[in-house]
Amino acid sequence: MSQKLWTDVDRYLADLLVPSDSLLDAALAANAEAGLPPIDVTPNQGKLLHLLVRLMGARRILEIGTLGGYSTIWLARALPEGGRLVTLEFNPKHAEVARANLARAGLSETVEVRQGAALDILPQLVGPFDLIFIDADRPNHPHYLEWALKLSRPGTLIVGDNVVRNGEVANAQSSDPGLRGVRRFLERMAAEPRLSATAIQTVGSKGYDGFALALVL
Ligand code: SAH
Ligand code: DHB
Ligand code: MG
Repeated sequence: MSQKLWTDVDRYLADLLVPSDSLLDAALAANAEAGLPPIDVTPNQGKLLHLLVRLMGARRILEIGTLGGYSTIWLARALPEGGRLVTLEFNPKHAEVARANLARAGLSETVEVRQGAALDILPQLVGPFDLIFIDADRPNHPHYLEWALKLSRPGTLIVGDNVVRNGEVANAQSSDPGLRGVRRFLERMAAEPRLSATAIQTVGSKGYDGFALALVL
């Protein structure tokens, strides 16, 4: 089993089920042009986020970690008329590229990009959100989960990206701050009676990782 095989299969599945789209492609091209790191969700992961929004009937979405807005476009396009998405991004260049990508995709009215450290902005937000996607600095994942709980209602779906990291998540000895953050995030999810959660390992064009899903009860 190899990265090449995972990439080939991802391409096959995405070509079949996630037809390419000029505005999503333009966002990725603009990100590359601006020198943003290519750590957006993959097309098939983006489509999964899109389907989750539709399954939930979500009207209000919170995203923590915008980058160039690729996942944001997938999420926002699943909203019904009048739906809103707030996305938080620390890096001013990332926020600027994301705003341009979202404007090109016709989503400026639907999406608000808030620039700043998420932990500074979260206390200013008014919930509840119907779906919350956590995809920012992993050392802070446990704090983002606390805020997600505060900004949720029974029925909210919380999605956490990058919770497996090449299998390192199972290494209790890891001293990596991101890894420790992810472990505390998962442990907190497990211990919280208001949440029913699972986590799924994934392989694909972006390597071996995984995501967590938690439903607020
Ligand atoms: N969701 C995006 C990828 C996000 S990458 C996509 O799939 O397209 C993670 C982003 O989190 C980066 O842009 C990084 O700048 C941002 N970030 C890191 N620390 C942050 C913080 N403290 N507050 C808000 N954003 C942060
Ligand atoms: C990284 C961050 C992400 O959010 C991701 O999905 C993949 C990789 C990273 O920081 O390497
Ligand atoms: Mg991610």
